[in-house]
Amino acid sequence: MKSYKFLLIKYYFVNIGIIGNGLMGSAIAHRLLERGFKVYLYNRTKKKSNTLVKRGAIRIVHPSIMGKKCNFVIISVTDGHAVKEILFGDNGLVNCHNKQLTVIDTSTVLPEDSIYCAELVKKKGYEIIQAPIMGGPDATRKGDVISIVSGNRKVSEKCRKILINFSKKIFYLGNQDGVANYVKLGLNLNIALIAISLSEALVFVKKSNTDPSIFLEILNSTYFKTGLSEIKGPKMIKDNFTPKFYLKNMLKDIQLLNQCAKNNGASLTFSSLAEQFYRIAANRGYSELDYTAILKLLNEFNNLNRSNKMN
Ligand SMILES: NC(=O)c1ccc[n+]([C@@H]2O[C@H](COP(=O)([O-])OP(=O)(O)OC[C@H]3O[C@@H](n4cnc5c(N)ncnc54)[C@H](OP(=O)(O)O)[C@@H]3O)[C@@H](O)[C@H]2O)c1
Repeated sequence: MKSYKFLLIKYYFVNIGIIGNGLMGSAIAHRLLERGFKVYLYNRTKKKSNTLVKRGAIRIVHPSIMGKKCNFVIISVTDGHAVKEILFGDNGLVNCHNKQLTVIDTSTVLPEDSIYCAELVKKKGYEIIQAPIMGGPDATRKGDVISIVSGNRKVSEKCRKILINFSKKIFYLGNQDGVANYVKLGLNLNIALIAISLSEALVFVKKSNTDPSIFLEILNSTYFKTGLSEIKGPKMIKDNFTPKFYLKNMLKDIQLLNQCAKNNGASLTFSSLAEQFYRIAANRGYSELDYTAILKLLNEFNNLNRSNKMN
């Protein structure tokens, strides 16, 4: 208890701004508040930060004002377009005139966008690194995610003291901006395909009039289990698609990956197919569900729904 109080006092004088208070930005804010940091928030849609404000976070009206108050600003927004707006738009972060400012961009974006943003931010006299995250909001609140970092080594070292508060491990991939974003897209492609593969197996089992929970129990007792089959699997078979990572954002990531692959000359057949499946699911209205709602789509293709789960 004594050391926890010490932590709260130690960090209270480090001002951290968080731009983007969606699922991930809010989880980061919760964790940092709990660790004793003074947390400033900016979100385009104000009401998303209401709970955090009640817990002691301070709402700021523009990114540029946040940049004046904070030496570290974490960005957690949808895509490169949003990051550019936050950094360079009207009242953007780079207009803050605080040369002590360091930007930590945790958003999953196109590497080319990261490189563009890093060059321009540095040209304007501020520091920036990329630190995309592996792990969802629940893991973030427990300090249990993986941060993948690229950018200037010294700046990355400085940011470690912030990232370590919500990350169990930090991988530093070197000075070259954008590298972390390539790796992050590859990691997300793996998840997108595992979700499809698990969903097809569940459809097969249900079509065979076999209990999917027994299937999952056996899978999760083998070497072939995944975090997805263990954590999300039991929810998927109960049609619980409460979002932890929106399907629309998974679609966004596969689109980014396929765009990157095209630029790099990589031929990724299953990734192209996966993009189509997630797009169909989005067009069916599943964008705001968890990405594991890809199972819901495959169930429908097979005339399996809640009432005839085992036919
Ligand atoms: N959820 C996960 O498990 C997870 C894990 C790792 C990485 N990520 C990545 O982390 C980032 C945030 O994810 P999330 O799950 O928190 O997504 P989310 O809940 O959809 O939140 C997206 C955030 O981006 C903001 N935003 C979007 N467009 C904007 C714009 N043009 N200008 C300003 N703000 C804009 C949204 O503001 P409004 O509220 O105003 O719309 C919202 O705060 C994404 O890049 C995602 O791919 C997510």
